[in-house]
Amino acid sequence: MSWTAPLVITGASSGIGRALALELAAGGATLHLQGRDAERLARVASEVAAAGGSATRHVADLTDDDAVDALIAALSAGEAGVAALVHSAGMVRLGSLEASDVTVLDDHYRLNLRAPYRLTRGLLPQLRRARGQVVFVNSGAGLRANAHWGAYAASKFGLRALADSLRQEVAGDGVRVTTVYPGRTATPMQRSVHEQEGRSYDPTAYVRPEDVARQVATLLSLQPPSTVTELTIVPG
Ligand SMILES: NC(=O)c1ccc[n+]([C@@H]2O[C@H](COP(=O)([O-])OP(=O)(O)OC[C@H]3O[C@@H](n4cnc5c(N)ncnc54)[C@H](OP(=O)(O)O)[C@@H]3O)[C@@H](O)[C@H]2O)c1
Repeated sequence: MSWTAPLVITGASSGIGRALALELAAGGATLHLQGRDAERLARVASEVAAAGGSATRHVADLTDDDAVDALIAALSAGEAGVAALVHSAGMVRLGSLEASDVTVLDDHYRLNLRAPYRLTRGLLPQLRRARGQVVFVNSGAGLRANAHWGAYAASKFGLRALADSLRQEVAGDGVRVTTVYPGRTATPMQRSVHEQEGRSYDPTAYVRPEDVARQVATLLSLQPPSTVTELTIVPG
């Protein structure tokens, strides 16, 4: 696989984002990796280098508007451009509406919906120039909302809407937009979900993040006008 410009991955310090960084690194990709935890992100950047890729690290809390602006500025500096933007950063906190303060909804909104909106908007000129791709890592909860998943599902329903409308807005410019719907995937987030559900955790029961990463890497390798608009991967 080869890209004319670097690829950006949010949430690259863990889980699906990390797995995607390593998958792309094996193809020699040039990556911009965002994470919040500097140490974890540095470890992934070293793994990327060892796998054959190159990585620039961006430590940023995406719920902080100034940090998102600084990230957009850093990614817009220079001539390299952006061939793909993959939104994998995300959070989940379970709870009924009755038991959950509205700040739970606000937190999901800020990270899972508002940050992808602002980052995509900021990088769209470069994505247009590259006839690039935007990938939103959504969730089965972006299609169906179960009890205690309301705030998370609301943010992911919103993310699906954003992707669907953006896809139509930029299709004429050769920019392709994909929503990925992973089912339960064996990452630190899934471990946390099990803790919140009060259940024991067996990672072998769930989708491997490496398998999600391989599918996303494949769709990222497609040349315009080919595109995968939606990708679902679940434990069988
Ligand atoms: N795991 C699943 O079962 C599953 C299923 C469906 C969909 N998804 C979706 O897949 C995506 C990736 O999840 P994952 O399972 O890979 O989770 P994960 O292992 O917990 O990784 C989450 C990533 O998001 C970053 N992040 C969290 N809060 C942030 C913030 N405020 N600002 C910036 N970055 C932040 C984390 O950075 P730090 O580590 O540096 O804090 C980490 O890199 C999410 O959008 C999630 O909703 C996951």
